[in-house]
Amino acid sequence: MNTMSHLASTALAEFHGLLDFMSTSRWSQRAGQPGISDFVLGNPHDGVLPGVTQALSRAVPPQSPDWHAYKIAVPASQAVVAQSIGDQTGVVFEPEDIVLTNGAFAGLSVTMRAAIEPGSEVIYISPPWFFYRALIQAAGAMPVRVDVNPETLEIDPAAIEAAITPRTQAVILNSPHNPTGTIASPSRLKDVASVLTRASAGRDKPIYLLSDEAYRRIVFDGGSAPSPAAFYPHTFLIYTYGKTLLIPGERLGYIAMPPGMHGREDLRDALVMSQMMTGWAMPNTLLHHSLAELESLSIDIDQLQRRRDLLVGGLRNAGFTATMPAATFYVLCRAPNDDDLAFTEQLAAEDVFVMPGSFFEMPGWVRFSLTANDAMVERALPVFRRVAGRSADLVLTP
Ligand SMILES: Cc1ncc(COP(=O)(O)O)c(C=O)c1O
Repeated sequence: MNTMSHLASTALAEFHGLLDFMSTSRWSQRAGQPGISDFVLGNPHDGVLPGVTQALSRAVPPQSPDWHAYKIAVPASQAVVAQSIGDQTGVVFEPEDIVLTNGAFAGLSVTMRAAIEPGSEVIYISPPWFFYRALIQAAGAMPVRVDVNPETLEIDPAAIEAAITPRTQAVILNSPHNPTGTIASPSRLKDVASVLTRASAGRDKPIYLLSDEAYRRIVFDGGSAPSPAAFYPHTFLIYTYGKTLLIPGERLGYIAMPPGMHGREDLRDALVMSQMMTGWAMPNTLLHHSLAELESLSIDIDQLQRRRDLLVGGLRNAGFTATMPAATFYVLCRAPNDDDLAFTEQLAAEDVFVMPGSFFEMPGWVRFSLTANDAMVERALPVFRRVAGRSADLVLTP
């Protein structure tokens, strides 16, 4: 007898390789030990920001009898977020349209369950964040894959347009993009907005954009990441503090709706109901209470940029093709002979651990996370040269 639900077994099929890697690979045995270079996940390896510890500690002593009560909307936190994203995006958000969630993970899930119908189609951009397909399926919808432009690794509005059908109810965009590190430009976002506006004409409700902005503040070279919410009003802006503060295990984020969002007032209630039906997908109260302080903090982006330069320089000097991300935690590197699984193994044998692209629809490439510490990068540089030396026909495409 099958003990698993259909949903669980579908998700398991999606994640089979990844779960195996997490539980049986050499990395799963070596993670956390000294002397390794761990580039696998966007996890902290440098300790936590002191400001984060202070903010969390200050939230612990109760300041009222209901300090640890069930909390849905905390108006002070909603106002802080509305002000902050207004400053960052140029769109004026109403505090009532900020829904606090336990991370972007929940933000995506809750939004889909609130705004799209089972049986509909949801477009996602490939290569995707690992969980999009499973979250779309968990909402009862069908994932529809649209690839980035293979040359520029940027989103392709014409390809999105070609994938839209009468059943399309949402598109998930992720800029800055994990794993390519690209930022969608204002003109590209305008093009996506035009595509969605055209395709939504004559419908009862527009095609929604789910804008996954997990890396909105992890941007290098003094750049910035425009939000699709500035170009298309029917955008759910989804954010997590897990990246900016590098505390992915503390679950805090939000969904924000711009003032022009179709059905905004109903959607406020729908989102909160969806949070409840997802099993209380709200932040814990301590995170609610510390949000105002956390909002102003960030990891050191200049240091991350220096690490990016060191890592990319090291890979390229060894003869590899590697991306130079404009944003996010991630560097992509082409595997010799386009065999990402073999390359992952070769590096792992030298205690350098990366994520093979086969786990995120990008076979032939591996992903490095810049959240490894500097010592891990320094340690890996001679390994890159050694592994390159052993690769008979290294791919040297620019
Ligand atoms: C693109 C993207 N979206 C969403 C998430 C989920 O973020 P969180 O776990 O902080 O909710 C991640 C985390 O890796 C991500 O990379």
